[in-house]
Amino acid sequence: MTFSLPQLKYDPTTFRDFVSPQTFACHHEKHHAAYISNTNQLIKGSDYENKSLLEIVMTSSGPLFNNAAQAWNHEFYFNCLTPQPSAMPAQLKGLLEANFGSVDAFMEKFSAAAVNNFGSGWTWLMQTGPNKLKIFSTSNAANPMVDGFNPVLTVDVWEHAYYLDFQNRRADYVKAFLAHVDWDFVTSCLK
Ligand SMILES: [Fe+2]
Repeated sequence: MTFSLPQLKYDPTTFRDFVSPQTFACHHEKHHAAYISNTNQLIKGSDYENKSLLEIVMTSSGPLFNNAAQAWNHEFYFNCLTPQPSAMPAQLKGLLEANFGSVDAFMEKFSAAAVNNFGSGWTWLMQTGPNKLKIFSTSNAANPMVDGFNPVLTVDVWEHAYYLDFQNRRADYVKAFLAHVDWDFVTSCLK
């Protein structure tokens, strides 16, 4: 199987008060595309050649895992965003209140985890059980789904995700990210 770069589901020039179209272009068309291209190179002629991207992420290690997971993580990250966020669905709001006390408390905890995620990585909201949500921070390409958890939201805290616009102000980037989350998509990821 040869993987190709997924299209963004929105026009990146329509975001306001988030990262610039230049960051989107570099992030999607250079970084994300490179992870996909590298994955295609690494699976050529191997047992992974006929597996899905998800299957590769769940079963590989080393450079193939790093590239395949980054390809998967980026597609998921871009899907978590929208230029026009709507109200949070009641199902998700109820789950966040049950797990974190309030939506605001979740936002604060998620932001703190993302801001304090040392180095390059991802901060996640994962479903760890039928009505259980938990925040994880991972380094580099790691994704808690390999431990059996279900991803529902992620923020990319690699510097390439924000440095052109926010420089070292990761907290401002995370705040802007949370103002542009597609809560309908997040809710659709719940199992
Ligand atoms: Fe990234």
